[in-house]
Amino acid sequence: MTPPTVSSSSRSIRVRLAGDAADRSYTVVIGSGVLGGLGAAIHSRPTDSVNASRAIIVADSAVLVSHAAAAEASLQAAGIDTQTLTVLAGESAKSVTEAARLWSELAHLAADRHTHIVAVGGGVVGDLTGFVAATFARGLPFWQVPTTLMAQVDSAVGGKTGINLDAGKNLVGAFWQPLGVVADVNTLATLPEREFKSGLAEVVKYGMILDAQFFGWLETNAHSVMARDPAAILYVVERSVALKADVVERDEHERSGLRAVLNYGHTFAHAFETTAGYGVLLHGEAVAIGMACAARLAMELGHIGADIVARQDRLLESLGLPLRAPCLRHTPAEKLLAVMARDKKAVAGRLNFVLPERLGHVGLVGGIDPSLVCRVLMQSLLSDCPA
Ligand SMILES: NC(=O)c1ccc[n+]([C@@H]2O[C@H](COP(=O)([O-])OP(=O)(O)OC[C@H]3O[C@@H](n4cnc5c(N)ncnc54)[C@H](O)[C@@H]3O)[C@@H](O)[C@H]2O)c1
Ligand SMILES: [Zn+2]
Repeated sequence: MTPPTVSSSSRSIRVRLAGDAADRSYTVVIGSGVLGGLGAAIHSRPTDSVNASRAIIVADSAVLVSHAAAAEASLQAAGIDTQTLTVLAGESAKSVTEAARLWSELAHLAADRHTHIVAVGGGVVGDLTGFVAATFARGLPFWQVPTTLMAQVDSAVGGKTGINLDAGKNLVGAFWQPLGVVADVNTLATLPEREFKSGLAEVVKYGMILDAQFFGWLETNAHSVMARDPAAILYVVERSVALKADVVERDEHERSGLRAVLNYGHTFAHAFETTAGYGVLLHGEAVAIGMACAARLAMELGHIGADIVARQDRLLESLGLPLRAPCLRHTPAEKLLAVMARDKKAVAGRLNFVLPERLGHVGLVGGIDPSLVCRVLMQSLLSDCPA
């Protein structure tokens, strides 16, 4: 069932999962003021024919009194009982310790399979809460209310949930699709500048991997995006979600290799985040630097010309994103290579990279000579190369 239209300035994008997964298809509602429709959206998705009567909100502490309270008000207005759990802001919350704490809290609150779990916050709270919802009582109904640009354009859609280990980012997780996503762009008004820019890295990623026209639109409209012009932001979120939904629909569990395109820049990025220490580099910052590395690697391999590298660099810079990581300049490239070899996308320790072939198109490239990767890292991070 499709949730009702909740605001005249809202858009609904359907994530249509195929075959046996069809009943797990869901709607992403995007718009200004759509948070007020959360309760009605939840009522539109009964579980095992039981209408929702109870929800537990898991909220980022930074949005507790603002957006989580608005979510709670919408649920209560729809006659749904609510309780709220809080998670301290920041990447370090995506941990086994926090997951275990939430499992205990859910047990204490006697959550059952008809208790809807609603994540209100950024990608950290969404990934953590989704993982807890996927695993508690073998799976609870789950909703995403993303309040960062990163979460609205990327992490809230697609069903990847998880936590970090010291050994690597997102190493423990589950695919657990939400029953719906309510992305209210008004919540972005309180988002700090650095976090806003971090989300834009994933937006540039969509242009690079899937949509040259969107990339061109971003080049032309970078100023309006940075000024957070409401129409520009709505378009950025809408286009990004549509592009991601299309990929997820065709390869929900990253089996055919199609969904892997979304990992452009991420093999590098995850190694930077793990090595710098979680939270030192924001995820989007690491992705921006990772894309700068990946484009250079593609150029070294002769897949793209210097013009594409320069256009990506210019767009990232115009959106206030970094191309280099001074915090990693003393990290030996071999240490980063070792972390990359442990990445989930590595097969038997061999490095695979998603690399651009032209603007708006990428391919998966395997068996790359590690010394070439090392050279790119050395140029990009200004670190010492042992080779
Ligand atoms: N599951 C996926 O498919 C996927 C995709 C992309 C990223 N991710 C993950 O997402 C995480 C990053 O997410 P993020 O960038 O949203 O970071 P985040 O969740 O840490 O949020 C960023 C900061 O903004 C604060 N915040 C959130 N909403 C706010 C608001 N409206 N106003 C003011 N402050 C607000 C938070 O407290 C936090 O300090 C990473 O762990 C990354 O791995 C997952
Ligand atoms: Zn990402």
